[in-house]
Amino acid sequence: MMLKNMLLATVFVGAATAAQAQTKEVEMVHWWTSGGEAAALNVLKENLQKQGFTWKDNPIAGGGGTQAMTVLRARVTSGNIPTAVQMLGFDIQDWGEQGVLADLTPLATKEGWDKVVPQALQKFSKYQGKWIAAPVNVHSTNWIWANKAVMDKIGAKPPTTWEELIAVLDKAKAAGVTPLAHGGQAWQDATIFDSVVLTTGGADFYKKSMIDLDPQTLSSDTMKTVFDRMAKLRTYVDPNFSGRDWNLASAMVIKGDAALQIMGDWAKGEFVSAGKKPDTDFLCFRFPGTQGNVTFNSDQFVMFKVGTERQQAQNALASATMDPAFQSAFNVVKGSAPARTDVSDAAFDACGKKAIADLKAANEKGTLMGSMAHGHANRAAVKNAMYDVISRHFNGQLPTDQAVKELATAVRSAS
Ligand code: BGC
Repeated sequence: MMLKNMLLATVFVGAATAAQAQTKEVEMVHWWTSGGEAAALNVLKENLQKQGFTWKDNPIAGGGGTQAMTVLRARVTSGNIPTAVQMLGFDIQDWGEQGVLADLTPLATKEGWDKVVPQALQKFSKYQGKWIAAPVNVHSTNWIWANKAVMDKIGAKPPTTWEELIAVLDKAKAAGVTPLAHGGQAWQDATIFDSVVLTTGGADFYKKSMIDLDPQTLSSDTMKTVFDRMAKLRTYVDPNFSGRDWNLASAMVIKGDAALQIMGDWAKGEFVSAGKKPDTDFLCFRFPGTQGNVTFNSDQFVMFKVGTERQQAQNALASATMDPAFQSAFNVVKGSAPARTDVSDAAFDACGKKAIADLKAANEKGTLMGSMAHGHANRAAVKNAMYDVISRHFNGQLPTDQAVKELATAVRSAS
């Protein structure tokens, strides 16, 4: 309660400061700092610039948005509130609960968002029935990106099972190519973990462990296999992987210095911005054994209550975000699927078309599940507790048996 009052007070101060701010300026906090991400963001900037809004960029690198959320908290506490913020899943709900977010319901009603935004996304975009975020895309994490020439050279086809994946990685190793391009950062380790949980235990196991946090499932033998498999994958990364940014790992695959990268479909943005074409230069396929399932994350734009002066810019941003033509143009570049069900896949390449089709099929089958790594399975405290165990294990600081135990206890104390 005290925190809520404090936040409301700071938002009020923010509103007063905002009165002097430019009303035709959009200042956005986001973590889209790579080449592909910047290209996608440009589509939005240009759209708003055409409407007479200036863009003030506030990029804070780090997938999953952990660093961006830390900066945001500091800014809100000091009353320095941006026009809008890129945000994921449960973080949106956390802020919704504080009562400090702008109510986008009048705009959403006017534009009919209810009918076109999938329910799985609305669960995060709405708080107590009110729209508090505008979803810009749907990404998913259970993808692999491969260099086509390398795959041809080593005589490999897209693997469809865990065993086939290991065979491909072994072939790359034997040919002197780095098998797995990876950046040793907690959120990247966790992104791989999403897929390894899903392939090892299937959709029910993923739901029970990552979403429902069932203690028995978290400490099961299947979870032990998950950690054993993470340790196996660790043997295929190069010695310089520690701390590497994800887009530099993508660049290794783009250049043919590495065979594969396990990464969400924002990686496609890197291939596309490097002028590469699916099926010709690179291959995209679902993480072996996860076909038919999708672990998703949706970037949404959240606005804070900042007073009427800046509402015009917020509404323009929200409206531009939900425009069907923009959703197509933006997501073609970003690598994601549109956050509306009524956007044609005509402008999308083969990977984009597959993303859209997979999303629809998984939604119908009940196998569309929130990504743990990207804040769509549980609140940040649980996510961070999982990150910590997964990363220490991946870096050889925790043996598998202990990692399984620590996962269950860390989750229990964080939830
Ligand atoms: C976001 C993506 C972003 C990726 C890497 C994810 O958490 O949802 O939009 O491209 O991080 O920065």
